[in-house]
Amino acid sequence: MLAIMGAMDEEIELLLAELQERETLERPGVTLYRGVLEGVPVLLTKGGIGKVNAAMTATHLLHAGATRVIFTGVAGGVHPNLRVGDIVVSTDLVQHDVDVTALNYAPGTIPGETPCWAADEHLRAVALEAAREVEGVQTVEGRVASGDQFIASSEGVQRLWTEFSASCAEMEGAAVAQVCAKAGVPFVVIRSVSDTADHSANVDYRTFMPLVARHAKQVVRGMLTRL
Ligand code: ADE
Repeated sequence: MLAIMGAMDEEIELLLAELQERETLERPGVTLYRGVLEGVPVLLTKGGIGKVNAAMTATHLLHAGATRVIFTGVAGGVHPNLRVGDIVVSTDLVQHDVDVTALNYAPGTIPGETPCWAADEHLRAVALEAAREVEGVQTVEGRVASGDQFIASSEGVQRLWTEFSASCAEMEGAAVAQVCAKAGVPFVVIRSVSDTADHSANVDYRTFMPLVARHAKQVVRGMLTRL
């Protein structure tokens, strides 16, 4: 079954409102909804903010029968061409806050694990097709950098750009990617840009997040008819 997850209410509420034949599955720390969206059986949930919540929720989704996972939400733009409202479809994901460099591991690398997790090619292609239908915004494919930090400085943006070649910064995607990859379950992350992760990120995020969360949601909706 297809699973769709976000971190916050704003990221899933529009899809939840359209969910037909809705059933609630209570799990420790998270509520999953099962139902039908655009004729497609889905699991839908809000996992909460950060990598731990994301990993826990992804694990519950897999146990509940998820065979593909789409993450929808907002992010801080890192690629210099990105503007508020634009969409990023993940090529791969890194955990930018992992630091075992003292033991000679590259920044972001967990010993014994891959340095980044590749999103599923088919889900990426379908997401891109659906994203091109969202009017007035640019869609890019790129690397998503996740960490338990809200990035709000030009130094922070610069680091993610030069060290990781990231297109955007958020707080969950790579944790979902790690869980899905271990289970062999395909995934993709779709993020709309709520801020540019610099000194004005806190103000922009509060202003634009509820508005741009709609863009990622439109992409997910567009994907449903194509999967
Ligand atoms: N989500 C939205 N904007 C973000 C930022 N600047 N840093 C981390 N996560 C975000």
